[in-house]
Amino acid sequence: MPTVPGTVIPDPVSQVAGQGEFVITPTTGIRATGDGLPVANYLGELLRPATGLPFPVGDTGDITLVIEAGHPAGGYDLVVTTTGIRLAADDAAALFAGAQTLRQLLPPAIEGRAQADAEWVVAATVIHDYPRFAYRGAMLDVARHFFDIATVKRYIDDIAMLKINVLHLHLTDDQGWRIAIDRWPKLTEIGAATQVGGTGGGFYSHDDYRDIVAYAASRYVTVVPEIDVPGHTNAALASYPELNCDGRSPAVYEGIEVGFSSLCIGAERTYEFFDDVITELAELTPGPWIHIGGDESLTTPEADFLTFVSRAAAIVASHGKTVIGWHELGRSTRLPAGTIGEYWSFTTAQADAAAHALSFIQQGGRLVMAPADVAYLDMKYDDSSTLGLTWADGATSVPDSYQWDPAAILPGIDDDQLLGIEAALWTETLATIADLESMAFPRIACVAEIAWSARPSVPRNFADFAPRLAALGLRLDAAGIGYYRAPEVAWHH
Ligand code: ACM
Repeated sequence: MPTVPGTVIPDPVSQVAGQGEFVITPTTGIRATGDGLPVANYLGELLRPATGLPFPVGDTGDITLVIEAGHPAGGYDLVVTTTGIRLAADDAAALFAGAQTLRQLLPPAIEGRAQADAEWVVAATVIHDYPRFAYRGAMLDVARHFFDIATVKRYIDDIAMLKINVLHLHLTDDQGWRIAIDRWPKLTEIGAATQVGGTGGGFYSHDDYRDIVAYAASRYVTVVPEIDVPGHTNAALASYPELNCDGRSPAVYEGIEVGFSSLCIGAERTYEFFDDVITELAELTPGPWIHIGGDESLTTPEADFLTFVSRAAAIVASHGKTVIGWHELGRSTRLPAGTIGEYWSFTTAQADAAAHALSFIQQGGRLVMAPADVAYLDMKYDDSSTLGLTWADGATSVPDSYQWDPAAILPGIDDDQLLGIEAALWTETLATIADLESMAFPRIACVAEIAWSARPSVPRNFADFAPRLAALGLRLDAAGIGYYRAPEVAWHH
């Protein structure tokens, strides 16, 4: 039978239609054991509210989740027949990805939190699927505007639905320091007291942060914390005079300019500070990566920048973590083995960005691609956008965010040199969950598909994707997730 296009986003590697459908009834249960049990419990939680059905989890059930060897890395097999559903994968994270596919095979009303009237059926199908990239990231800037734990958890659920498995939290910037550091308490006493625009602010205690990390783990999402240094540090500089070369703290900053701040590179205290921060952060971070920023340090002289980067990266490595940095970090030729560069220039590289990014490859590392002109979700969609910015080559339409390929940006790069891709949501203009979701959706679905779905043999065609986005729109409506009704999509209402 031929592969038929379904409505699942990201598009599975292969999906073949079967005969008939599986009908969910009050006795439908979810069968799982061992590491499959948390996924079964998650699936049950997902399916119960809208159906009003019990979905018992245990040793019997027509929906079977199986962990077994033999599936591609990160992939799963999903078979739906008239008598049952079998979802199998090598590990729980891949099983969870398969559960997201199963979710999208159900009627959109499944996304509602109140009991809904719908025919709870799944059309028979055979899906074989696996990801293109291991790292499928979403970045959230909690520094320009602070977002509480509930908002971050909701965003984790938003991204997990699309098989995004990394949440990069931009924890520090000129406008705010958002993670408590016990040894340097003024970072949050002073540095977290405000945000862009001057009202609000806040930070995560260690327990808050552990709560976020644990919630993310329950969705098989790894949190990558970012401490952006040596630039983007006004909040730290405002908190501690000793971090400034002249020993004087600047005022806190509530605007949206970039590139004006720098730690004092020549002072040993700077490295004691950074080591203390990384010591506490590494202890809070079960994942392998810590991001140290490195972007837009426009007032740091080149020699100082290079000195700082090699010392800061070595500190992170000494705590057993792999360094990630924005592509400017590639100006250094003394990065620890395996350092990951995050490329944020455009799909046509600007100035030295390509050379800086390729430097990570030359030093044995890999890249995460987050090209700002297509994968920065805070860019305006078009002239009608009231939120967002335009510096990344103007507005970014929904087709723009879909029609690009991460392996086609830099010369000599193939998928092997890419750890993955990331959609970034900067928050200079975004203050609420509604703001976040209206800028993320639907473009984050475009980026998620590029991160997961196999590289196409011909360039991605938005016309093929648009009907699936329209189908996703019905799910977002049911879930109460606001999104931009892009004019290029024939939404179902
Ligand atoms: C960045 O957008 N400055 C990473």
